[in-house]
Amino acid sequence: MTNELKGKVNYSVNGNIAILEVDNPPVNPLSSGVRAGLAEFIEKANSDDSIKGIILTGAGRSFIAGADISEFGKSFDGPDLNSTLRDIEFSNKPVIAAINGTALGGGLETALVCNYRMGTNKAIVGLPEVNLGLLPGAGGTQRLPRLVGPSQALKMMLSGAPLSAEKALTSGILDAISGNSLIEDAIEFLQDKIELSEHPKVRDKNEKVLEARGSENVLTEAKALAAKTRRGQFAPGQIIACVEAAINEDDFDAGLKKESEYFLECLMNPQREAMIHIFFGERAASKISDIPKDTPLMSINSAGIVGSGTMGGGIAMNLANAGIPVLVLDQDEKNLERGMGVIEKNYQMMVDRGRMSQEQKEKVFGLITPTLSYEDLAKVDIVVEAVYENLELKQEIFKTLDSVTNNNTILASNTSGLDIDALASVTNRPGKVVGTHFFSPANVMRLLEVVRGKDSSDETMATVMSLGKKIGKAAVVSLNAPGFIGNRMLAGYTYQANMLLLEGALPSQVDNALESFGMSMGPFRMMDLVGLDLGWRARKLANLETPLVNKISAELCERDRFGQKNSKGFYNYSEGSRAPNPAPENEEIYKEVSEKNNIQRREISDQEIIDRCILGLVNEGAKILEEGVAQRSGDMDIVYINGYGFPIWRGGPMFYANQLGLEEVIKKMNVFSELDKEFWKPAPLLQKLADQSATFGEAPAVNERAELLSFEQANMGGV
Ligand SMILES: NC(=O)c1ccc[n+]([C@@H]2O[C@H](COP(=O)([O-])OP(=O)(O)OC[C@H]3O[C@@H](n4cnc5c(N)ncnc54)[C@H](O)[C@@H]3O)[C@@H](O)[C@H]2O)c1
Repeated sequence: MTNELKGKVNYSVNGNIAILEVDNPPVNPLSSGVRAGLAEFIEKANSDDSIKGIILTGAGRSFIAGADISEFGKSFDGPDLNSTLRDIEFSNKPVIAAINGTALGGGLETALVCNYRMGTNKAIVGLPEVNLGLLPGAGGTQRLPRLVGPSQALKMMLSGAPLSAEKALTSGILDAISGNSLIEDAIEFLQDKIELSEHPKVRDKNEKVLEARGSENVLTEAKALAAKTRRGQFAPGQIIACVEAAINEDDFDAGLKKESEYFLECLMNPQREAMIHIFFGERAASKISDIPKDTPLMSINSAGIVGSGTMGGGIAMNLANAGIPVLVLDQDEKNLERGMGVIEKNYQMMVDRGRMSQEQKEKVFGLITPTLSYEDLAKVDIVVEAVYENLELKQEIFKTLDSVTNNNTILASNTSGLDIDALASVTNRPGKVVGTHFFSPANVMRLLEVVRGKDSSDETMATVMSLGKKIGKAAVVSLNAPGFIGNRMLAGYTYQANMLLLEGALPSQVDNALESFGMSMGPFRMMDLVGLDLGWRARKLANLETPLVNKISAELCERDRFGQKNSKGFYNYSEGSRAPNPAPENEEIYKEVSEKNNIQRREISDQEIIDRCILGLVNEGAKILEEGVAQRSGDMDIVYINGYGFPIWRGGPMFYANQLGLEEVIKKMNVFSELDKEFWKPAPLLQKLADQSATFGEAPAVNERAELLSFEQANMGGV
């Protein structure tokens, strides 16, 4: 094998069995050297008369975690995967995959060309390619349906979710689970089979695909699943077309050929690049560039939550689900009881929907303990405060927490937008104070903005980022600046939506345009959900004038239209339903308000709606980047995809702008600046990058950053 090839395969012999061990740390992807090594050693074992069977396994904790993503879209060295897999499939001697850990994507496809499959009880198998905008292109779409049936294969490939060893055994992917030493058990298994004149090949198992032939049910069901869970994505349709070929083609190789064609189409599709950007972007976001990798982490074995409302309850569930015991404190018995009741109801709903067993529910709910006494929080490792959004109240609570908890406890606030430094300043441990901005519902939404105060210590930041990972969040660091990352960007987006309404568009047109762009919910549906009255009431209390942009929503509030909460806002809602119905009675109001403010309503194209709302995000994103509030442009993409319903297949707003070309972005903004010069002034960083025909990348170095906005300068609401 040549040296330039990446990864290798170790060859050893145990009696009459050859053992091929994939060795490409840390997770054994199928890099060039692995493919070459497998081909070479299958050949070697086949040409050695003393060898009667072959074991294929992985070094370390993975079997084979998948293809080598770094090779995608590039020319690569060594044999291609399909030819290596063919060598294994047509080996003269029986091959067993001894699955010692994760067998994902190309890893499972490798196992599927073996005659037999055995796993440890820690084995995990799956075909997650769809998450990268791809399909399993090394025979997975043809072989998995033959093994588990097309319906289950489609569910696995469309969700990308892996199966545990136990489920893999019952579904027929594994032939056996090893109870002791995997290699010893695999040898014993092979010895039993050596004498057989023929060994099973998945490609020949046609029974399950033939059963599905002639009926459209399986495919119709899969299309419905894809439409529901992967709206706008290209790969799912391709996966379904591959399985259709597996069902209908008589010749296995004809199905394989179709799979290759459909795979190539996915590879060339821009969605693939966008989704791989997000895959790597999420990993990049978890790193804090100026904090040393070896920063010691505090262990978080217990937590406290103050405030058991919407957010506190969700955060408590999140921690308990990860096995962390949580004490939940509220201001009085009544609120605490209500909060605990909601948590229990949410868990019960999961049981009723089959997402969790009764036993699991009891276990996790049992980890959540209500309390009214701060003394009980004395020994927890972290407290997350989630009371009403009021600085004085939060400062009071931080003072109390500072005095009752031990000095090491991290004090976190779930504030949507208050100054974390103002909270840190009332404590004697500013290094241990941090923002943890969860999104609603906190037990479901993946985004967690970790807000770094000026004094938050490296250890605190690293610990909270690691906790974020443990509880399954996409954690992104934001500097402590108004609106943090997400809500600050959102402000420009909703501003444009409201202006479009004043200029002549209707809420349904704006929502439909943005939803067909891929946003999971249009801005007016979102405003109805959050409540139109929050800003209106706040302005009334403070005796502030209504800015032009809010004139329509204020007028709706004057007429008792607050949004979903009272079944009428921009839309009408029928009792108990969240489905928006048109509200033609509002149209007169829109016209009146436009007229009163001397705005000539006009026909507005869907493209203008999309451009104005999305480029509003992008320009604000550029400012956030040049101030260093976000560490990198990819972090903003992670924020928007996981917290604000931006379509993953577009790679997030900043990636979208890169793909559009920043010069094009500026060109469009220049056209809009005729409507609003101030808003559409390009951020200096955006202008600079466009002038250099460059793209958004890392944030500028600290000494080149633009000045941060202060909390006093900005008046930013948010969710
Ligand atoms: N709701 C959202 O969508 C959302 C999203 C992100 C962040 N946030 C932020 O999270 C925080 C909580 O918001 P929420 O929506 O959960 O509010 P909520 O009104 O649902 O719950 C607040 C809870 O805090 C309790 N509380 C009030 N004063 C207290 C005190 N002195 N001691 C102990 N408990 C007290 C209340 O009894 C209530 O249970 C706010 O800072 C909010 O800005 C909210």
